[in-house]
Amino acid sequence: MATIQAAILGFGTVGQGIYQILNEKKDQLKESLGLDIDIKAILIRDKTKSRMAAPDVLFTDNFDEIEAIPDLQIVFEAIVGEDPAYDYLCKAIQKGCHVITANKVMFSKHGLELQELANRQGVHVGYEATTAGGVPIISTLKNILLVNQVQRIQGILNGTSNYILTQMRVQESSFQDALEEAKLLGYAEADPFNDISGQDAFRKLMILSNLAFGKQPKWDDVSIEGIGDITLEQVLGAAREGLRFRHVAEIVEKVDGSLHASVGPRLVGPEHPLYAIEGVNNAIALETDYMGTLTLVGPGAGKLPTASAMVKDYAEIIGKRTQILVTI
Ligand code: NAP
Ligand code: HSE
Repeated sequence: MATIQAAILGFGTVGQGIYQILNEKKDQLKESLGLDIDIKAILIRDKTKSRMAAPDVLFTDNFDEIEAIPDLQIVFEAIVGEDPAYDYLCKAIQKGCHVITANKVMFSKHGLELQELANRQGVHVGYEATTAGGVPIISTLKNILLVNQVQRIQGILNGTSNYILTQMRVQESSFQDALEEAKLLGYAEADPFNDISGQDAFRKLMILSNLAFGKQPKWDDVSIEGIGDITLEQVLGAAREGLRFRHVAEIVEKVDGSLHASVGPRLVGPEHPLYAIEGVNNAIALETDYMGTLTLVGPGAGKLPTASAMVKDYAEIIGKRTQILVTI
């Protein structure tokens, strides 16, 4: 049986999850895809850090060593920030690799360019994990768009914010305690600024905008507010009145084709569809022309939900490739 040569960029929460799932599901993937997978190398930044073992895998802090792997076909990317992730993925695509990313900061800015480059090179870009963690919003949206037009997207797109707001209300935790828990649980970024400032939800909304509308609004025109100013007293006071804080990202296409987007906290009552979305869960409501409104709910962050979305991308990409080979 042939073997796919792969590399993982980043071996933190998500990177380790990818490695774990690929190992645990090795036989199932081998059977369904007719191909084995071999993780040849893992890129990290700090070689001195003690971390989960991965026997027979090259650990390197030098991307050139990854690029030099002969017959490399798949690159999973789970590092942080725009640079050097974009550069690495461009190089991987130019080398003929399919790439699968969880990096929304990079992808919200460079997603269209990466996809154009991949089209020219005849490879695929998987980016399910960039938006809403384990919720299959990207593949669902692609499917819906085959027939429907999307008119509005509204949802909770940051698991950390929703987890903090839930813990403040249900456990009466302080903001800081709830944030520390979200870090320990692998929901919050190592630097949680983007989570609590609304920037993370904004970047995910821009990825959805590219897919649903083929464009983004001007970033400067989007009002972005986080949950950092919400106090425990406000959360508990709202709860006494039967209301809950939710961090809501929304984008609407107006009749003239322009896009209007906003990201920020809202107080919602029991009649609101986002009222019941608790903890790390995300929810995304898609308003469409023919199908009406579809809402997806599920874990928006965390090691295994996110990694499973990336392994799902891998199975889809390799599945497509083997279908083409069989058809030919
Ligand atoms: P993390 O735990 O902080 O891990 C990041 C990993 O990337 C670490 O192994 C780090 O190396 C490595 N790294 C960072 N910068 C690097 C560089 N310039 N060169 C080489 N290696 C580098 O982060 P994470 O939670 O796994 O998230 C990874 C990516 O997935 C991020 O883009 C994040 O936004 C996205 N994401 C995360 C989640 C989640 O629930 N955690 C969900 C969806 C998407 P060292 O270990 O040596 O420091
Ligand atoms: N830190 C992000 C969140 C991870 O809490 O939603 C998932 O993208």
